[in-house]
Amino acid sequence: MPTPIIAPFPASRLRRLRRTPAIRAMVSECDVTPANLIWPIFVTEVAGAEGEISSMPGVERLTLDGVKRAAERAARLNIPAICIFPHSDQDLKTETCERAWDPDNIGNRAIRAVKETVPDLAVMTDIALDPYNANGHDGIVVNGEILNDETVAALVRMALVQAESGADILGPSDMMDGRIGALRGALEQAGHKHVAILSYAAKFASSFYGPFRDAVGASGRLVGDKKTYQVNPANRGEAIRCVARDLAEGADMVMVKPGLPYLDICRAVKDQFGAPTFAYQVSGEYAMLEGAIRNGWLSRDAMFESLLCFRRAGCDGILTYFAPLVAEAIAARA
Ligand code: PBG
Repeated sequence: MPTPIIAPFPASRLRRLRRTPAIRAMVSECDVTPANLIWPIFVTEVAGAEGEISSMPGVERLTLDGVKRAAERAARLNIPAICIFPHSDQDLKTETCERAWDPDNIGNRAIRAVKETVPDLAVMTDIALDPYNANGHDGIVVNGEILNDETVAALVRMALVQAESGADILGPSDMMDGRIGALRGALEQAGHKHVAILSYAAKFASSFYGPFRDAVGASGRLVGDKKTYQVNPANRGEAIRCVARDLAEGADMVMVKPGLPYLDICRAVKDQFGAPTFAYQVSGEYAMLEGAIRNGWLSRDAMFESLLCFRRAGCDGILTYFAPLVAEAIAARA
């Protein structure tokens, strides 16, 4: 940014442009609209597991019927996309993760349910093995090692079935090397040339994912941590290299995850690459904000402000569990 030229006081009184709502609106530099939101939802196949997730107050695991209702709600609120996360039967999780590419797994059934209900709503999916992995990891584990290339081959199978089920946008969140190129190549070859990839490019090994792991039933399962594949929270340069690599391999859009603690990465990615850039306001961020709001420690405005900050930092959109609430608030304001 060039150094601003600013007249000395009193010629310059910055408060002139803060005086009334109309003038403040005129000079507002960014805004949040429903078009900027992607709504992550959880779907369960386990009888009795539907309902509120205790570490994410206000967020529920949905049945397939619930997913259809959520899709209709998203469309009504002009939210362009939802992102589906499966909570699958614990007893069907294996070390080889073959349910990940079963056309009838709960994730793929949810894709089809949304597409039948609201065909125009964009459906994003998660590409990683953790919902179907007995040990809770995103990749195939053998003798304690998360195997890269074997995992990529499994992810390709998973992706093709998701594309077949009607997914519009695939979200590889696994952080294996080479997955974007492999996925793009396989999609092209199978005739899914219009299916887009939103890469979880700069995904950090964060402790802010805890409530999500409760939501998908991975908490008790995870053996060890994900530090051998997710980025060290200390590393900005490495995150930039991840984004460069994923774009070079064919990612259409990129994501920074988590969100608010990583706004410096969002800004750097947008400035450096100019690609469509998204942030994931993850489960732990949601839990912190929503917990404080429900306790009366923060006002509801904190929710909206948090999303505005992503826009200010250069993000084109935000994956956020607040999506329906925010879109409702925006609709009520209009
Ligand atoms: C795993 C995945 C995670 C999230 C999205 N996909 C968790 C993890 O990496 O352990 C986290 C999302 C959130 O915390 O809201 N494939």
